[in-house]
Amino acid sequence: MTQPTTPQANDQSPTTPRIHWASSGGFILAAAGSAVGLGNIWKFPYITGVYGGGAFVLVYLGCVLAVGLPLMIAELMIGRRAQENPVGAFQKLHYRGSPWQITGWLGVASGFVILSFYSVIAGWALAYVFESLSGFSGAAADIQAQFDALAGSAPRSAFWHTVFMALTIGIVMGGVRDGIERWVKILMPGLLAILGGLMIYGLFFTDGGSQAIGFLFQPDFSKLSAEGILSALGHAFFTLSLGMGAMITYGSYMNRDSHIVRDAITISLLDTVIALLAGIVIFSLVFSYGLEPNVGPGLIFHTLPVLFAETGPWVSVPFFVLLTFAALSSTISLLEVVVSYFVDERGWNRKAATLVMGAVIYVLGLLSAIAVLKVPFRGSEQGFLDILDYISTNYMLPIGGLLTCLFSAWIIKDQVRREEFGSAGLAYKAFVWTLRLITPVAVLIIILHGLNLLPFVE
Ligand code: PFF
Repeated sequence: MTQPTTPQANDQSPTTPRIHWASSGGFILAAAGSAVGLGNIWKFPYITGVYGGGAFVLVYLGCVLAVGLPLMIAELMIGRRAQENPVGAFQKLHYRGSPWQITGWLGVASGFVILSFYSVIAGWALAYVFESLSGFSGAAADIQAQFDALAGSAPRSAFWHTVFMALTIGIVMGGVRDGIERWVKILMPGLLAILGGLMIYGLFFTDGGSQAIGFLFQPDFSKLSAEGILSALGHAFFTLSLGMGAMITYGSYMNRDSHIVRDAITISLLDTVIALLAGIVIFSLVFSYGLEPNVGPGLIFHTLPVLFAETGPWVSVPFFVLLTFAALSSTISLLEVVVSYFVDERGWNRKAATLVMGAVIYVLGLLSAIAVLKVPFRGSEQGFLDILDYISTNYMLPIGGLLTCLFSAWIIKDQVRREEFGSAGLAYKAFVWTLRLITPVAVLIIILHGLNLLPFVE
């Protein structure tokens, strides 16, 4: 079904044939599915808890608007115009062999690295669907030890990672329409329905609902730190799947008659609203049991199960199904970036590319699944999962984002950019100047922070 395209030097014509999404709704669900993932349900609530709530949320919203949205528009533009995978896209919009293709390579490499460890965490979520079926019981310490036993056991983590990668490979193998689009039409409505149900439960059936709303939406700026601002900035990238060509790849399957700006706004809005709803659900529970919101990464797998022992499986099972659905709609986009490269540039057929690359990524992921495997990194012994997470969040995505931003702000022809944007008015000018000045500075700050070169942040 996929029609391979041949990259042509310096060809900026939008006419190359390629498979497209069956409908614009299907595209929105796929792109929102990529954006909505562990980042929304697991990471956003826990970093919001750590960095003090409302003020952090406000800064985060600013980052989505000033950094995330312009970059999302830029990536979709590059993809739709070029109708190519990220490596081919940068060449097609510049010239064959252009050094900007490095940005595409970095994207494909990020897909490899991120999917390898993301699938391990997603596997834990899937495992917890089954663990919570029988309910959590016993003392808090025992319930918490249950998670450590899973994450600390190489065979068990590897087993669930295997299942999750198999699901991801199975979907991507079906192709853009019959695999990805078909599945996000099931996963995303399912996710929204579960989240809606859990939100009603959190707001109206626990005692913590109003406190959760206050925590998330009443900013207390005394709690805001430089570290918090930088985390908000870095998270805006990760949560919107930016800086690694995922939106370029999905954009390359867009029709010419789609509206990039409108769609980018819809996707960013969906991603943000879903993160906030997840925050409401989780903090309602946390506050209703008088707990502190700032426990860190263990919030979902350590703290919540203790509370689920009180609520019963009818809250915990939907919650972990939600987490699994969110993760799966993201892992398929990570794999699609890698697969699209091998299909477009190397002429592989989709099934072979998906199976072979899925298998290679799977094997890399086994390193993250073996928690006892530790190597020296930044002055201490650390597991692969943490190291790969650190490298991708702090270096690969921001550097990919910076290059994408510079490319679309300064290299692409203005006429091409304007055509893709769909207008030349004030909104377009605001977009271009944000992309030229604000976005790159913000991204540079994340990179410098990752290199420990910002003196005012520890
Ligand atoms: N946006 C996803 C999340 O928030 O969990 C993570 C992600 C998916 C990042 C796909 C990058 C990507 F290409």
